[in-house]
Amino acid sequence: MVSEAFCVNRQDYQHAAAKTNFAIPSQFSLLTRYTRGISSMGTEVVQLTRRGFGQTSRRDAWWVQPLVAFIILTAFVVYATWAAFQNKYYSFGNYLSPFYSPLLYANSPHAWIQGTRPWWVPGFLPFSPALLILPFPAGFRLTCYYYRGAYYKSFWADPPNCTVGEPRHSYRGERFFPLVIQNIHRYFLYAALVFLVILSHDAYKAFFFFDRNTGRQNFGIALGTVVLFVNVVLLGGYTLGCHSLRHLVGGYLDRLSRAPVRKTTYDCVSCLNRGHMRWAWLSLVWVAFSDVFIRLCAMGIWHDVRLL
Ligand code: FES
Repeated sequence: MVSEAFCVNRQDYQHAAAKTNFAIPSQFSLLTRYTRGISSMGTEVVQLTRRGFGQTSRRDAWWVQPLVAFIILTAFVVYATWAAFQNKYYSFGNYLSPFYSPLLYANSPHAWIQGTRPWWVPGFLPFSPALLILPFPAGFRLTCYYYRGAYYKSFWADPPNCTVGEPRHSYRGERFFPLVIQNIHRYFLYAALVFLVILSHDAYKAFFFFDRNTGRQNFGIALGTVVLFVNVVLLGGYTLGCHSLRHLVGGYLDRLSRAPVRKTTYDCVSCLNRGHMRWAWLSLVWVAFSDVFIRLCAMGIWHDVRLL
């Protein structure tokens, strides 16, 4: 009986199959090791059949995970796109929505440059300051190793889940165009680290409230402070657990133990990396909620509550 509980590299599988008489099924499985084993013994030949789309011998609810990922990612993309084009209600007092931070160009005390729109943006194009910055965090998430695995399954069904038949027979992988572009992830990481610093500063500013009586900024904590602080913690857990960062801080070394500082940093990144999936989803949902919170406060629908 062949176990189909895990996925393995498809190229390994194709390589193994090329050395044997087996047909190549369209999904990964432990069959690779199985076929290698019996090939070397030369005692038995098993003819495998290609599964049709959605066919599997799995008995668990394998479709739930890709379906939930599809719903959450679709909802996020729709909301983020809508919010980015609004160009209003993105700040409330000392709070600035993470969808608009850094606020490069706007008539706002949070803006780096005051003005309604940059001179180089054609007048016939819709403009929002969020459109200047969102490609960076969006690109970071889109090329994330974890999200790739999630949306390949939920949007492209390639495959729908491990050991489930997929709707196509060829596989070009990420070594060829267009998916080879995903290798740009490490460069988006550099931008994400800069964004993390900026959003941390936004969270810091959320601790200071303008006092009309004295005209000074006073320390305090309100619901919005908590929202933006949690947002930075979750984004930090996600960004600092990135696979590319793990490589950058020491993963590329042959003998990591010879560099103790790198080894410690590598262990910290690895610790966060083990929960990368959870950080990815929590930070995604919370960053959208942060925008919703500030937007509704700015619209007067929700009211911020001062805690301290
Ligand atoms: Fe997920 Fe880099 S691998 S953020």
